[in-house]
Amino acid sequence: MRSRTRVMTSEQNAMRDEGSAKVIRLTRPSVVVLCGPAACGKSTFAARHFRPTQIISSDQARGLVCDDERDQRFQAQAFALLHCLIEQRLSINRLCVVDSTALTTSARQSLLELGRRYRVPAVVLLLDVPLETCLDHDAKRERTVGRQVIERQYQLFEQAKSAIKQEGFEQIIELGGEDLDKVQIEIVFRPVPRAVTEGAPPDRPRVAPLRSQPPAANKGDARDVEPPSPPSTGPSS
Ligand SMILES: Nc1ncnc2c1ncn2[C@@H]1O[C@H](COP(=O)(O)OP(=O)(O)OP(=O)(O)O)[C@@H](O)[C@H]1O
Ligand SMILES: [Mg+2]
Repeated sequence: MRSRTRVMTSEQNAMRDEGSAKVIRLTRPSVVVLCGPAACGKSTFAARHFRPTQIISSDQARGLVCDDERDQRFQAQAFALLHCLIEQRLSINRLCVVDSTALTTSARQSLLELGRRYRVPAVVLLLDVPLETCLDHDAKRERTVGRQVIERQYQLFEQAKSAIKQEGFEQIIELGGEDLDKVQIEIVFRPVPRAVTEGAPPDRPRVAPLRSQPPAANKGDARDVEPPSPPSTGPSS
């Protein structure tokens, strides 16, 4: 499989070659958005390169809210939890690797907005593996989603690859299939000063958000798509 790691960024140090290894430099805190269709290898890649606690997964969020990772009926609740976890981690300068398909502009926009609100970089890793590889991965795994879902998501991914360039991410890093096994990740700690970071009573918000935002519009998708946000329940949503 052809290696074609490509970085579109204004920051020249974002990715470099070290001999045969590609090294991607990320900062902590930041929002690292994995983007790719079902079965392209997002969760496998995340597990290989990041600590379990750094990975915020829409599957896990669904499992936590409704006991079943595959149940698509409670997307609003699952993504509310996902966003809440990201906010809390960013508020204390932690890395957030978001493991969801992120195939629609609205899904990515809500993650970009969290990055802006907490003044941290938002980066996209595009997992650009061939459709046939996704279908093959899917056929071999226990939890299959089927050809129809993958083909539909693949179409959305093709659209996302061009749309994403105008969306405002600090880095857009394209990873081909072979890169997923070879790439190395380097994480640089660049803490963002916060108004309040420690010592707040547990019933009070620890960090004041910069501003409130209206809920993101939902454009809809076959699976694993950002739902409309539920009504705001706290000062940081
Ligand atoms: N680089 C790889 N080489 C071989 N098999 C892989 C690779 N990456 C993932 N797989 C396999 O493909 C299947 C799907 O991978 P994974 O669950 O990581 O995909 P995903 O993008 O997270 O899918 P979903 O969006 O459905 O959660 C798994 O069985 C995994 O073991
Ligand atoms: Mg996954």
